[in-house]
Amino acid sequence: MFKPAERLATLPTPATIAMAARARELKAQGKPVISLALGQPDFPSPNAALEGAVAEVRAGHTGYPPIPGQKPLLEAIAAKFKRDNGLDVSLEQLMVCNGGKQAIFNAFMASLNEGDEVVVPAPYWVSYPLIARMFGGVPVEVPCREEDGFRPQAEAIRAAITPRTRWLVLNFPNNPTGAILERADLEAIAAVLRDAPHVMVMSDEIYEHLTFDGKAHLSLLNVAPDLAERVLIINGMSKAYAMTGWRVGFACGPVPLIKAMIKVQGNATSGICTLAQGGAAAALREDMAGVQAMRATYERRRGVVVGALQQITGLSCAMPQGAFYAYPGLSTLMGMHSAGGRLLKDDVAFAEALLEEAHIATVPGSAFGYGPHLRLSFAAADAELAEACERLKDFVAGIKG
Ligand SMILES: Cc1ncc(COP(=O)(O)O)c(C=O)c1O
Repeated sequence: MFKPAERLATLPTPATIAMAARARELKAQGKPVISLALGQPDFPSPNAALEGAVAEVRAGHTGYPPIPGQKPLLEAIAAKFKRDNGLDVSLEQLMVCNGGKQAIFNAFMASLNEGDEVVVPAPYWVSYPLIARMFGGVPVEVPCREEDGFRPQAEAIRAAITPRTRWLVLNFPNNPTGAILERADLEAIAAVLRDAPHVMVMSDEIYEHLTFDGKAHLSLLNVAPDLAERVLIINGMSKAYAMTGWRVGFACGPVPLIKAMIKVQGNATSGICTLAQGGAAAALREDMAGVQAMRATYERRRGVVVGALQQITGLSCAMPQGAFYAYPGLSTLMGMHSAGGRLLKDDVAFAEALLEEAHIATVPGSAFGYGPHLRLSFAAADAELAEACERLKDFVAGIKG
């Protein structure tokens, strides 16, 4: 009889995946489900990526690739860091992974010992605490406040740091809140880090190109280049380039850490699919017109969706400044009943009722360590978003005491 390893026994299935699975079941039963649960761009991948992948095969590059990544892609990534972030990085500081997720996995496996603490501002993307726990790490949550625009306060981070802290995770623009960090926020966090030289920073910048209201993404290293020996940047092709299925992510960090991560990956997946690397390199070398067009579409949809949510009595919804998620608060509706008679005792119950009764798949905020909220992705077609907002309005209107 199979018994899972102890490190898996207490690990929950991420709610994002559980909700998507239930939505698929309902769809298979013929229900008109609108899925706003996954962080999946609804655009096709750039043509340049398709051409780049084909060129890779035609050139006969179908053997095992080097574990850290193929040189043309590493060079394109280094050029990307210069162009988009103003950072000069060497190829030894880079590695290509099977999605940003594997970069995070590699980093935690390469660095964490039993009991090491990982400070994670909440709300957070579900995978940081889960992956950290797989390697004996202890997630330490730092709750952000809605009135601070979900930006972590430097003093709260300071208070969470102990001698056992190994990492601070920063993810801005943030999934699920869309918060971004301003220069002053980063400067204050950098000051805390200078007082805690044992702490590394994982800066997940995978939504860097998806910022709104004319704001540009700032990297921690832009304001604190002196921290370069302690900062690991995670990024990838999935979000801004609509290339989720290609599974290309990358990491940029201090050489000893990258070497350790390469060792991990060499014992797991080895190098990343050559076709995908050819496609990613070609997409990165293109000008940014395609990425900017998608960004502008997300910004327009943000206005439509958040505008509609703000009109619904009972929900509170701040305007996200980046990424492609709305994160309305549900506190005034907790403890009430849906039209179908379900007790809305928490945001999980709310998301389940919304899926069963209005056929909208979302993710409860508690999955991101911060409820009662709901995360709705606006990376979906305009007509679907409009229909989802209508259904949500009717669902909330049907809620009673
Ligand atoms: C904040 C954040 N980081 C990293 C990832 C990983 O993306 P991928 O593994 O597709 O590169 C995601 C995907 O949802 C994400 O939301």
